[in-house]
Amino acid sequence: MTLRNGATNGAAAISARNVGVSIDAARLLDGVDLSAERGRFVGLIGPNGAGKSTLLRAMASVLRYQDGAVSLFGRDLEALSSRRIAELLALLPQSPPYSPGFTAVELVLMGRYPHLGRFQVEGRDDERIAHESMRLTETDAFHERSVDTLSGGERQRVFLARALAQQPQILLLDEPTSNLDILHQLKILSLVRRLVDDGLTVVTAIHDLNLAARFCDRLVLLEGGRVVADGAPEAVIRPDVVERAFGVRSAVYRDPATGALAVSLIEPVGTEAADAARV
Ligand SMILES: Nc1ncnc2c1ncn2[C@@H]1O[C@H](COP(=O)(O)OP(=O)(O)OP(=O)(O)O)[C@@H](O)[C@H]1O
Ligand SMILES: [Mg+2]
Repeated sequence: MTLRNGATNGAAAISARNVGVSIDAARLLDGVDLSAERGRFVGLIGPNGAGKSTLLRAMASVLRYQDGAVSLFGRDLEALSSRRIAELLALLPQSPPYSPGFTAVELVLMGRYPHLGRFQVEGRDDERIAHESMRLTETDAFHERSVDTLSGGERQRVFLARALAQQPQILLLDEPTSNLDILHQLKILSLVRRLVDDGLTVVTAIHDLNLAARFCDRLVLLEGGRVVADGAPEAVIRPDVVERAFGVRSAVYRDPATGALAVSLIEPVGTEAADAARV
């Protein structure tokens, strides 16, 4: 059966198989497999330098991979035009570049470009979609503000609005909550969760293990450019796994207030206190 997007039934929305990335002598990714079914929220966790951004960039066709393959709804990424990729997939980079002087709404409208004809300017529908994306991310108050005057968290939400305005079927987020206050961390992840429940497929790099365990369906742990764990939050957020990957002693429990899996980060292993306790 062929679906609306031309996919074959059963194909993952996005899948990376055996992906390898080398830059000069450095091997950034090696034999990485990651797939996300339609309507799934996958969290990509791992220490600084593990390769999370590199993998997201490779899957978004922003960075070339030397080995393996990436497919979107069963179609090889390399066989798709950049316009077709942008119709299907949006990437929110970790530190998106921007030109000072653009207003927030102009930046969000840029998300509509893949949907416009070659010499077509944005129309009413594009403005409506941009406006709705700004409402969802609570950025409508910054409409006419120049993006360089926004705070870090305000700007991060405007960039998310741009990615939403692209109306992708697959959304790749690189630490979307890194600059957000606790209220907006919860609001933005709840929004993404709702969109996922409506059929969007999301892969997000995220450092906060509690938020990752609470909002994601599945977690993939990267370390040194390789996948070292992949499964339900309960299978990945375990004290032994956290200690091996991050060098942090932790306690994992069910949060009585939210019912979600939660982790207390106790101390780095190998600290003086931990060493003294072992003597
Ligand atoms: N052009 C490059 N040349 C050499 N090494 C690079 C290059 N680009 C990235 N790297 C290295 O590749 C590794 C993976 O980087 P990446 O940005 O994917 O990590 P990350 O998991 O996203 O980390 P973070 O949590 O800090 O965002 C890092 O060690 C980085 O220094
Ligand atoms: Mg990164």
